[in-house]
Amino acid sequence: MGKAIVVGSINMDIVAFVNNHPKIGQTIFGKEVKYFSGGKGSNQAISCKRLGCDTVMIGRVGNDSFGEKMLKVQREEGIDVTNVKMLNNTTTGTAFITVSESSDNSIIVIPGANSSWEENFEDNINIENNDLVLAQFEVPDWVIEKIFVKAKKCGATTMLNPAPVRDCKKEIINATDILVVNEIELQEMAGIDVNKDQDESVFIGAQKLLELGIGTVVVTLGERGVRLLSDGKRKRLNARSVTPVDTTGAGDCFIGGIAAGLLKGSSLQSAAELGNIAASISVTREGASSSIPTLNEVNQIFGENGEIYEK
Ligand code: RIB
Repeated sequence: MGKAIVVGSINMDIVAFVNNHPKIGQTIFGKEVKYFSGGKGSNQAISCKRLGCDTVMIGRVGNDSFGEKMLKVQREEGIDVTNVKMLNNTTTGTAFITVSESSDNSIIVIPGANSSWEENFEDNINIENNDLVLAQFEVPDWVIEKIFVKAKKCGATTMLNPAPVRDCKKEIINATDILVVNEIELQEMAGIDVNKDQDESVFIGAQKLLELGIGTVVVTLGERGVRLLSDGKRKRLNARSVTPVDTTGAGDCFIGGIAAGLLKGSSLQSAAELGNIAASISVTREGASSSIPTLNEVNQIFGENGEIYEK
């Protein structure tokens, strides 16, 4: 089995739990503040590891208390952090998050060290042909382009989660095998309106992305589940019915699950089901990476589904 190599952000999440998100110009009282380890890259790496595959994190933190804490969290998960560098003269990425009573969130990210990469950072990163390389949009485009181009040269598979969405360079698209988007990212990248409540509309959007040359498009739709489009075949996975308390990082949890499943040799559908089940557990808990279940928990909570996954 190959390993997951995650090139991405590492953030300290400072989360205010509130009744309702503040309106512009409004001051409100929140209920509680909590600190969680976060960052889309780090969350996805933790999800890959907890859901069963060897994981390498490639990222940057500042030489500060948040950076030390984030590195400690990753080490304790058993993630290879040899290529996580602690940089002077910058701060660890920080996310300011509000989570409302209805479990939804709004996020402001200050990238800090996530933007500071040295040229040729990828030179000493070992990629093998059975590895899966994951990236998100919380690090610079050129960083993603370089690691994806190297991954393709090494025969590895690449998975892109373009979040938070921005224009995607052609060079990155050309080196992407699997694209994982939510409905907002789908809409932006496909350049058309998408109605997440109508499968046909979602698949039309996904088809537009396939036409860019990407082999597999995976669309996460929250409580509506997941849609897969690959080799011209459509698949629909329903979401589990749960009572959510905090949806932060659910997409990251899903991505770690699908990556871990694929690395273990599962079909795209089974791998996506692993991500789907794991994400449905994560939304019932607070925090981003803190909410991600282990493979054992997935198997225990959803026994009849869990048994299709090896321990
Ligand atoms: O996807 C959730 C993540 O987005 C949070 O952990 C936050 O750090 C931002 O990167």
